Amino acid sequence: MDGNGRWAEQRGLPRTAGHEAGEKALFEVLDGADDLGVRWFTVYAFSTENWRRPPDEVQFLLRFNEQILLSRQEELHQRNIRIQFIGRRDRRVPRRLIRRMEEAAALTQSNTGLTLTIAFNYGGRTELVDAVQRILDSGTKRVTERSITRHLYAPEMPDPDLVIRTSGEYRVSNFLLWEMAYSELVFSETLWPDFRREHLHAAIKEFQDRDRRFGGLGGSEGPQR
Ligand code: FPP
Repeated sequence: MDGNGRWAEQRGLPRTAGHEAGEKALFEVLDGADDLGVRWFTVYAFSTENWRRPPDEVQFLLRFNEQILLSRQEELHQRNIRIQFIGRRDRRVPRRLIRRMEEAAALTQSNTGLTLTIAFNYGGRTELVDAVQRILDSGTKRVTERSITRHLYAPEMPDPDLVIRTSGEYRVSNFLLWEMAYSELVFSETLWPDFRREHLHAAIKEFQDRDRRFGGLGGSEGPQR
């Protein structure tokens, strides 16, 4: 969900106003994905690198995420959406926010609709470090692709088919590094607060026109997992 700060700066507003505008985009795009029958929808809400932002903005983002969970969890629950989180729960994440995350996950855990995965204090490298550490802790001597996959934060989550990066940046920025090995990447110039259902549709159309070969020559093979 990139481009919130620039969206605000373009309007002479504080960066936090861009994050606030990003909430509308998030729920509109989530609706659009749900209406299309998308089963897994993951958003990058706060990265392990975002702690480097000015303390005021970090504080704002922590509180903002908490508020969104409080104000939206019931509505998401009514829509049969399951909420889960990926990321490291280290001491920098306030206890209160962790409790909100646990509440939202518990409330919606039996829902059978779309799974909304919120990446919070998430970094792809950190996820791999944590996975390998847990494999070592289990006493196993052999590390395999399968064992790494099984020790990711959300082991049952399928690898993403499509990853959309907004705001004209052409990077993966430490997002789902392991899971993204064969994802199709779509880059959009639109700043996140302006991103709407039609932008999602355009990205999915672009995805549908891609030829996915997963390292093979095409045809029926899927990803190895
Ligand atoms: C990146 O824009 C955006 C963020 C760091 C935060 C986005 C978070 C939300 C919209 C809230 C999500 C909350 C939940 C609970 C899912 P940027 O600040 O990097 O923009 P810039 O690149 O223009 O500076």
